[in-house]
Amino acid sequence: MCGIVGCIGNKEAMSYLISGLHRLEYRGYDSAGVVTVNDKGATLLRAKGKVAELEYLTSKNISKDIVGIGHTRWATHGEPSELNAHPHKAGDIYLVHNGIIENYKELRSELKKHKFSSQTDTEVLAALIDSFYSDDTELVDAVTQALQLTVGTYGIAVVSVRNPEEIVVARAGSPLIIGIGSDETYIASDASALIGYTTQAIYLNDGEIAICRRDGVKLRNLAAQPISARVETIEIDMQAIQKQGYDHFLLKEICEQPQTLRSTLSGRVNVEDCLVKLGGLNLTTEELKNIEHVTIIGCGTAYYAGLLGSYYLEQLVDGLTVDVAMASELRYRSFHLPKNTVALVISQSGETADTLACLRELKQRGVKTLGIINAVGSTIAREVDGGVYVHAGPEISVASTKAFTSQAVTITMFGVQVAQAKGARAKDVSKFIEELDRLPSEIESVITKYKERVAAIAKRYAHYEHAIFFGRDTLYPVALEGALKLKEISYIQAEGFAAGELKHGPIALVDNAFFEVALILDNWLFDKSLSALAEVNARGGHIIAITNSKKEIDAEEVLFIDTELDLLAPIVLNIAQQLFAYYVTLAKGYDVDQPRNLAKSVTVE
Ligand code: G6P
Repeated sequence: MCGIVGCIGNKEAMSYLISGLHRLEYRGYDSAGVVTVNDKGATLLRAKGKVAELEYLTSKNISKDIVGIGHTRWATHGEPSELNAHPHKAGDIYLVHNGIIENYKELRSELKKHKFSSQTDTEVLAALIDSFYSDDTELVDAVTQALQLTVGTYGIAVVSVRNPEEIVVARAGSPLIIGIGSDETYIASDASALIGYTTQAIYLNDGEIAICRRDGVKLRNLAAQPISARVETIEIDMQAIQKQGYDHFLLKEICEQPQTLRSTLSGRVNVEDCLVKLGGLNLTTEELKNIEHVTIIGCGTAYYAGLLGSYYLEQLVDGLTVDVAMASELRYRSFHLPKNTVALVISQSGETADTLACLRELKQRGVKTLGIINAVGSTIAREVDGGVYVHAGPEISVASTKAFTSQAVTITMFGVQVAQAKGARAKDVSKFIEELDRLPSEIESVITKYKERVAAIAKRYAHYEHAIFFGRDTLYPVALEGALKLKEISYIQAEGFAAGELKHGPIALVDNAFFEVALILDNWLFDKSLSALAEVNARGGHIIAITNSKKEIDAEEVLFIDTELDLLAPIVLNIAQQLFAYYVTLAKGYDVDQPRNLAKSVTVE
């Protein structure tokens, strides 16, 4: 949420700032801005809308400065507008900020000297820093003093025309990375902005402030004590953050799932010996054996992947109890967890504020936490007691697709490993292991075989205003995820329901403004699923059935997905839903990768 970039080196900063902002645009895209500084002044450019608008301004106002910071915004305080866009100026300093300054109202009322021009909490922080920035004060000291009075979350970068030799950055709750180049230093709120510039990076921790100069970085804490820097290597290649010939990142990310899933499974599933081994859990076999309860937390798609995973955990591990909670809810509940609980923390970005806060709450209660995370080096990945990277590669489209698949699969692998630690024999888990192994090629064939047909169906249903998705058992979380995907990018009001619940309320909605997506598996619940379908048909529904069954199904459209998988078939059917949401959105002409009002990485509550 909100992208931050910065650069100090020996060549024009603007080129990195604009390239970095384009790459971070998925973090927020309602306005953007940059400032470059030299000892005579600054070039401040801000624009409402996408980074392309800002880029146009930079082509008219050429800056050759070698120091600058930039920002792409997801509005929290104040509407998207040029005046509310960052950087914000106060005196000689310019500030970009990601996060929320919670005590901004009190601070603002005390900052009488500053003439505020925006509605943002960020300008308050800029003014606060400026109030400490007298002629004989170092910028870093003014920033430190201001942050000592600040309540809330922030990732910030500050520059000053009085000292254009440095950028001061600080972090509390919102990610910041410092890239170390050969003769320049870069700032980014996630690693993708740094690809192609440097592979060496310092991930700032909460409570750390860094003074970034062209030739090095000095770290200290809020008490001004020095801290030694830990330089890590970023392992993302350029191709992973490019569209590679696809029209949209979303389509690329849907289509690359066979490969990303192979990376998720690689070295972890051994079909011959019928074993799963996840390195990084930091749990002994004895500790795995003693797990009695698993609590799963996440937000959005990660939560739905957790919900699907919970069904698999229950199927796999005898006697295990599992619950799944939205992180934003659990953190404020008076919840109680049984002893020998392990928490699975699911997050693509590893930065989601609600999930992070919930993780910290769980840790405080002494619960062992395991991360199922995609973004390497992210905050959640660093704070959990152990965990597994899903290795799906950078997910750039705001709507999450490949991460869902890899997360659900990773929870399943975890289930197999726990089951085996508890004494499950090979034959008890072999079906899961075989299906895990075959899943990438099954997904591959679904994409190849059904893409065109899904596109044709999507075109026919794109004009509807509302949709209901329903499914039973493992298809219930898949229905929720299908509805989420459709609503977030096509803006069709879509809701997912457990098929059995339709008759308890939602069926009242069925009319000609609705279509319904019925998810049906050819298993022991097939007949039950048909009853729900019949009830909707009887009320004039417009049903698209997505199924792996060859049996007759009475629906307006039947999308038969030919898969030999059984247990993991829900994951395969979900691929069809992802394609469906994509093609509906395409037909409606909306921005597929950056839907309105959303952001990819939600680092505020
Ligand atoms: C945002 C994104 C969703 C994502 C959710 C959780 O709302 O738009 O696509 O599922 O955050 O994100 P995480 O990074 O924690 O998986």
